[in-house]
Amino acid sequence: MKDYPFSKGLEDVPAAESVLTYIDGQEGKLYYLGIPIEEWAEKSTYEEVALSLLLRRLPTKDELKVFDAALRSSRDLPDEIIDFIYDLPPETHPMSALRSVVSLLESYDEEAKSQDLDAKFRISIRLIAKFPTIVAYFDRARRDKDIVRPDPSLTHAANFLYMLRGEVPTEYEARVMDVALILHADHEMNASTFASMVVASTLSDMYSAIVAGISALKGPLHGGANEAVLKMFKEIGSVDKVEKYIDEALAQNKKIMGFGHRVYKTYDPRARILKKFAEKLAKNKYYKIAVKVEDYMIKKVGHKGIFPNVDFYSGIVYNSLKIRTDLFTPIFAIARVAGWAAHILEYLEDNRIFRPSAIYKGEIDKHYIPIDQR
Ligand code: COA
Repeated sequence: MKDYPFSKGLEDVPAAESVLTYIDGQEGKLYYLGIPIEEWAEKSTYEEVALSLLLRRLPTKDELKVFDAALRSSRDLPDEIIDFIYDLPPETHPMSALRSVVSLLESYDEEAKSQDLDAKFRISIRLIAKFPTIVAYFDRARRDKDIVRPDPSLTHAANFLYMLRGEVPTEYEARVMDVALILHADHEMNASTFASMVVASTLSDMYSAIVAGISALKGPLHGGANEAVLKMFKEIGSVDKVEKYIDEALAQNKKIMGFGHRVYKTYDPRARILKKFAEKLAKNKYYKIAVKVEDYMIKKVGHKGIFPNVDFYSGIVYNSLKIRTDLFTPIFAIARVAGWAAHILEYLEDNRIFRPSAIYKGEIDKHYIPIDQR
């Protein structure tokens, strides 16, 4: 048998070449298309980030205008899908609702089966446009409320908050959501991106590939961590209980949600940006608990390279925008769908099916034993 190098969890194993995102995990730096994340967060919009990732370059003014108009006009869902959303049991997790609805949407897209990359580009735009609508419609349907139709005069981020809450957000709230989406738009070869690329590499359709991304993002070790972080703050209850909580959790080898990262061995730059918003927005006790958790964790495990990741402060920000906790991961998906689509389109330009190997640990040359002789 061949002696392959093995890296559990594929750590440090490159799975593709890409020009989209670069992470310097030692220095805590993140770049989309070579531009630092701080610049995107300060100067750009989610719409521009999404199109830049899809095009793999900064768009012209006209390109962005056309893309933005396409997003605005593609937001709504077919009536049959809206009925399906209302029929879902209200206790369905919004990530499961999102996964099911995206899967269903394939049947309503005439281009879905096309292998043409331009068609897949157009499908990507429709998916990016529809994700916020699916999440907002489901959230209202499960609470027995009428849906709020998309408002084409609002930006992607502002319209999402509007459909969710039923009122137009303030400019500041819309900007905070916009930046949160920018920060989550892509992140190199993470589990959900890889999952969606594996499916796309079989030349399956865009919808199936994106469903794989949603499914992977749902797990608490990936996108589900932001939800778990806020639950942890609620469980801790007050600042004076932080140290005891962390000591007990670490003694039991439990992971503290919102900390640690496969690539970052220092402070996640996205967490730094979100922390500033959390500080400004959060008038509740969670921010104080978070700061104490951060200080104490860095003291205890910082030497191992464990620092806050993007999920640590995002929950506090969303909470102060009055967004329910189980919508935090769907918001991650609303942003990340652009990254998934961009990586898929990039990979398909020179596709090769993903087919890794496994190290066989069993025996060979055994013989079959009939069932009544075992
Ligand atoms: N809390 C406490 N200890 C942690 C930790 C955390 N959140 N994350 C990692 N560690 C410790 C591990 O216990 C291990 O310690 P050891 O070497 O003494 O055994 C070491 O750091 C390496 O951890 P490992 O689980 O092998 O890292 P990984 O690269 O496989 O996992 C994550 C990365 C993100 C899955 C992991 O850090 C984690 O589960 N974090 C919490 C979930 C989370 O916030 N996910 C969102 C990521 S953006």
